Amino acid sequence: MNDTVLELNAVRKSFPSGDSELTILERIDLAVPAASKIAIIGESGCGKSTLLNIIGGLETPTSGSVQAGPYRVDSLDEDRITEYRSTYLGFVFQFHYLLKDFTALENVMLPAWMAGMKKKEALERARSLLADVKLEHRLGHFPAQMSGGERQRAAVARALINNPSLVLADEPTGNLDPANAETVKELLFSVVDSRRTTLIVVTHDRSMAGLADVCYALGKNGLEAQ
Ligand SMILES: Nc1ncnc2c1ncn2[C@@H]1O[C@H](COP(=O)(O)OP(=O)(O)O)[C@@H](O)[C@H]1O
Ligand SMILES: [Mg+2]
Repeated sequence: MNDTVLELNAVRKSFPSGDSELTILERIDLAVPAASKIAIIGESGCGKSTLLNIIGGLETPTSGSVQAGPYRVDSLDEDRITEYRSTYLGFVFQFHYLLKDFTALENVMLPAWMAGMKKKEALERARSLLADVKLEHRLGHFPAQMSGGERQRAAVARALINNPSLVLADEPTGNLDPANAETVKELLFSVVDSRRTTLIVVTHDRSMAGLADVCYALGKNGLEAQ
């Protein structure tokens, strides 16, 4: 396995703003070693989600390069972007995005079916991941029958189903009360550890940032290790 799962060089992002442009990200350099856990903190509006979206292939940088394993993310065509997102990455957002008409188990299995995993294997993997996030008693529950913390734990399990090289989490505890936030945070880190994958988490929560191997503050000068 390659030792670096993600490398950003001189990434810059600006948006048109009237006659000029508004630069959100500048001089972003980052190398993420395999199996490491990285936290990114920074004030609201400083560009954390934009950065994560660029890494996730949801937005393109204005300049600079994003290399993730074999994927040159900043210049992929649509087909390869879809492949990159579904096979290399797992996503956790502030909102769970579970499908309301599907059970917890089905929600977690769905990305595996879509990627062509055999049903039996997908089922076994989904059950095992749901057990890892302490939801073995909620397999047949629909999102509306689960608490906010449980829904987010299901979203964490879903993010891991296709055995991603890199999990991207954007304020995964942002919508939760402190007790649920604590549980989700611990389970996110423990499942990433046990599956030996890599995590980049954007958070306001200093105690979550403290669980990471490296914490970067995003600011005017790019990413600064704390
Ligand atoms: N598509 C866009 N067009 C113009 N401005 C944008 C766009 N997306 C984000 N921004 C601006 O970029 C800044 C950073 O946004 P964001 O990455 O969401 O910050 P954070 O996640 O750190 O709160 C904000 O000021 C936001 O308004
Ligand atoms: Mg954000």
